[in-house]
Amino acid sequence: MKRSNGIVIAIDGPAGVGKSTVGKLVAGRLGYSFISTGKMYRALAWKALETGAGLEDDDGLVKLANSLRWEFPKGSGPEADVSLDGRRLELELAEERVSKASSGIARLAGVRLFMRGMQRAAGLAGGVVMEGRDIGTNVFPDAELKVYLDASPEARAGRRSGQLRDQGLEADYGRILDFIIKRDAQDSGRKNNPLTKAEDAHYLDSTALPREKVVDAIVDLFRTLKS
Ligand code: DC
Repeated sequence: MKRSNGIVIAIDGPAGVGKSTVGKLVAGRLGYSFISTGKMYRALAWKALETGAGLEDDDGLVKLANSLRWEFPKGSGPEADVSLDGRRLELELAEERVSKASSGIARLAGVRLFMRGMQRAAGLAGGVVMEGRDIGTNVFPDAELKVYLDASPEARAGRRSGQLRDQGLEADYGRILDFIIKRDAQDSGRKNNPLTKAEDAHYLDSTALPREKVVDAIVDLFRTLKS
């Protein structure tokens, strides 16, 4: 399939592996836009918490999602923001309660179907790096380039602790590691579109690889594809 703006690059992998950081850098190098699909789940979870919608009520959440005006305006860098009914959501999406609720609603079949439709529409023209858990397997099984980014839970917890400390915040490595292991189990163990590597995805283990090398590797894959 020929897309008008370029190809679709799908990056999947577990929580805290650096998909967003890497994805944004790749998008910047290629002049592509970057979309974090996790933010869409987070946005719906935020709205559900704000309106008191039932977090287990799949039909109610789909109705809520359909009632909203979703927009993905250009942000400051290559990343698209998420805007609901004209309100750009930023810090709200990073709240702990939103993070927890998003993981819960991401289990629901109707919610996932809604998200898939919206994500396909957002990326169909190409020229996009899209990051999530099921992009290469479910949203864009036809993506021209698929990457499955992995790292050991210990490496991910170590990096996250380092980031927090760099920001002058407290970091409890043990608690972070525990959180990551639980989130992995929830994302990989769910019935609907669990996190798995697409058969045709390139597997990149970044446990011992600096971010820049991961970015270089993906850009190299892109260039190989083009030549
Ligand atoms: O990547 P993130 O932490 O922002 O994602 C929030 C939640 O949404 C996470 O628990 C996994 C889920 N998610 C998903 O199931 N499928 C996606 N494509 C993206 C995120």
